[in-house]
Amino acid sequence: MKQNNGTYWAVVPAAGSGSRMRAEIPKQYLVINDRTVLEHTLARLCAHPAIAGVVIALSATDRWWPLLRRLPADKPLAVVTGGAERCHSVLNCLRYLRRTQPADHPVLVHDAARPCVRAQDIDSLLQACAAHPVGGLLGMPVRDTMKRCDSHGAILETVDRRRLWHAMTPQMFSLGLLMDALEQSLAREQLVTDEASAIEALGLRPVMVEAAADNIKITRPEDLQLAEYYLRRQETP
Ligand code: C5P
Repeated sequence: MKQNNGTYWAVVPAAGSGSRMRAEIPKQYLVINDRTVLEHTLARLCAHPAIAGVVIALSATDRWWPLLRRLPADKPLAVVTGGAERCHSVLNCLRYLRRTQPADHPVLVHDAARPCVRAQDIDSLLQACAAHPVGGLLGMPVRDTMKRCDSHGAILETVDRRRLWHAMTPQMFSLGLLMDALEQSLAREQLVTDEASAIEALGLRPVMVEAAADNIKITRPEDLQLAEYYLRRQETP
């Protein structure tokens, strides 16, 4: 991928309602150690020297963003309106960026709900993608035995876990390629849950880069305490 003088825009989809959290407030606005999850995530991204700025997708009904007081002030943050699914939100961010950035500009897409991402893992991703023609993503090898079940919980099969990975974010691809891939997925009515799936559907093979296990996505209520623990531990020298 293009090296772009070592600086890249990031895209953060933050327009989800977080229904699995069973909270009144969307999960990106829940508070950990005096800051919202979204503020932690943006702080992590903006602290990285390779990030030029961030485009954030917010829900059309978002009422919390204007209340944030601890947003990074040293890099440009742009806000766009998100869509019905994560892929629509990402695409809206990419369309916004495309107005000012060339099609071959590599972008990093990162979930608002992953506040514990480490600078070191972003470095590994940048390094792997610089040497790769397609792009890639952070992930982690599956540890547990994997089962496929029917809708009643009856086990249909045990899936071979060798070479099976959890897909995480950031995921890094060229702006134009990713826009085409997502637009084509939507045209086929495939609501992809990550960027790599849309790229794979074009017949391309992104590279998987192993990340630390603490790059969790806050999904269920108990994940909040886990993220708090990881953030504190990472801050302790
Ligand atoms: O719901 P899930 O955990 O898969 O969401 C992943 C990320 O995508 C979250 O940061 C969420 O805010 C975002 N999202 C979005 N627009 C949607 C749905 C989810 O930006 N319509």
